[in-house]
Amino acid sequence: MNEVVGGRTSRALVLERFGSLPRLLERPVPEPRPGHTLVRIRAAQIGHLDLNIVDGRFGVLPELPAVPGTTGCGIVLASDTHPEGSLVRLGGKGLGMRRDGCWAEHALVPDAAVELVPQDLDPALACSYFSPAGTAWAAVHTVAAVQPGERVMVTGAAGAVGALTVQVAARAGAEVVGVVGRPAKLGHVPAPAKAVLAADLSAESIGGPVDVLVDTVGGPVLRDALPLVRPRGRAALVGYTAGREFGVDLADFLLADVSLLPVNLMTRGKEVAADAERLLAELREGTLTLAIERHGLDRLAEAAERLRTGEAVGKVVLDLG
Ligand SMILES: NC(=O)c1ccc[n+]([C@@H]2O[C@H](COP(=O)([O-])OP(=O)(O)OC[C@H]3O[C@@H](n4cnc5c(N)ncnc54)[C@H](OP(=O)(O)O)[C@@H]3O)[C@@H](O)[C@H]2O)c1
Repeated sequence: MNEVVGGRTSRALVLERFGSLPRLLERPVPEPRPGHTLVRIRAAQIGHLDLNIVDGRFGVLPELPAVPGTTGCGIVLASDTHPEGSLVRLGGKGLGMRRDGCWAEHALVPDAAVELVPQDLDPALACSYFSPAGTAWAAVHTVAAVQPGERVMVTGAAGAVGALTVQVAARAGAEVVGVVGRPAKLGHVPAPAKAVLAADLSAESIGGPVDVLVDTVGGPVLRDALPLVRPRGRAALVGYTAGREFGVDLADFLLADVSLLPVNLMTRGKEVAADAERLLAELREGTLTLAIERHGLDRLAEAAERLRTGEAVGKVVLDLG
């Protein structure tokens, strides 16, 4: 609390115009107020959702200027609800969307957006596991209902959601094919999946039609992967890093007879929360893996570029430790 009482400033990434990157500015540490928790941020995720908001290309946008960052992790400095000094995960309640988020050294957030996490948890993992873990679980179990012995193809299989989806599907007893866009990523597809380059996609290269497609990439990758799903199979649609638009020829769609199923973690978050917690325990034990890249608050441009271009492997996190 000394930092607050002393009226000190703290650094924050402030978005002033959609379509430009936020600027690193000094501003007063937010004043604590009832119903809110003041947190010293240790790590904040840079996700595709955050970049879509920065670009002004999402259904929920903040009034500017605003601090982006939909999820973070830090230490409680002041709160009526949460113990001071405890490590907490921040997310939901419009953080980084309708109100200032976590790309800052200090964040004042609604008490309900704060969740205690194990005190020895790596803050970078704490702020970044839920989206890929929850989405992977929702895609494989809740939405596609993968059964033991089925064949599952995952696109973006070295990405954060894709890599966890590969592992969750394999745990469900599926035979998994992992598709990546560039040769450098073939080695990042988790075992035991067969890794295949998107450019080489064919029924032959993946060993015949699959029962389920989990697509995290969209655009032309989805277009090329979808015909490799068997009739009456399912395609769980998660992401659109390679393109937001997808055309459907109705005659081909009806003939193919593949169910197109949206995966939406925002509406399914509560449903999969307990499963994501179990996956977190396994990530901590090392029985599941999630790659994390860490960047300083002053390296947002580089970090965002790595995520935008698909250069990054796994989660990209601002480290404010
Ligand atoms: N529906 C939901 O509720 C939900 C929840 C979480 C995430 N998502 C979405 O799921 C997608 C994947 O998220 P993630 O966290 O796994 O992201 P990620 O780690 O960045 O993985 C995305 C993958 O997309 C591939 N890619 C292909 N073309 C790309 C391009 N032009 N730019 C960037 N990447 C490209 C890259 O793999 P290659 O290099 O192998 O092509 C990259 O590894 C995102 O669109 C995200 O918004 C949706």
